[in-house]
Amino acid sequence: MRTCMKPQTFLLASALLCTLLGLGYPLSCEVCTGSGLTCSGNVQTCDPDQDSCVVTVAETSRKGHWSVNTYKGCMKSSACRSDFLSITMDPENYAVSNTRCCQGDACNRDPVPAPQNNRTENGLQCPTCIAHFKETCSSTQQVPCVGKESRCAAFTGKVQTGIIFATQGCATENACHTKPGTLVPSASRIYTITRANCPSDTQPSGKAK
Ligand SMILES: *[C@@H]1O[C@H](CO)[C@@H](O)[C@H](O)[C@H]1NC(C)=O
Repeated sequence: MRTCMKPQTFLLASALLCTLLGLGYPLSCEVCTGSGLTCSGNVQTCDPDQDSCVVTVAETSRKGHWSVNTYKGCMKSSACRSDFLSITMDPENYAVSNTRCCQGDACNRDPVPAPQNNRTENGLQCPTCIAHFKETCSSTQQVPCVGKESRCAAFTGKVQTGIIFATQGCATENACHTKPGTLVPSASRIYTITRANCPSDTQPSGKAK
């Protein structure tokens, strides 16, 4: 048998090829959740289909309980968007977050800046509702939008425990295109948004654009 390469050379060549093609050699990311503007945890190997590391910092108010929380972990790039997000259901229930996605081992170590939490009303209003164990909710009330929130949005999501919820309120434009799987860490739980849309029949009233 003719060997054209030494085994070591062959292994090295395969490793290079795999790296170039993005195959095998799974990504590793720092994984943690915690209160505050950053958290630290172990660097863990991601599932093969998780090709991004994520760090997200969220300032949330849930039933008036305000908190800042950080989540770091592995994600699919298709569910990860580096962006600022602002969602308001009512003055006691809202979330603002900053997210950064990156590709590279432990690239999510560095914190992201705290999201700007501008609660100044901007003159727009949207229908609002919150319901658990449901995929949709209907609204009888309006909420004033704040800061950069320019759209009325409806979300379906789930809490870690698997409990689904539906909500409507004001949101930044990018929330209308929220990728399924977007995470919003809150005090004792992490919310996953599984569906988002901005129905055109419920666009903000007020000094509309
Ligand atoms: C906060 O939001 C209001 C309403 O949209 C806006 O007029 C104001 O400039 C914002 N403040 C900052 C610091 O961005």
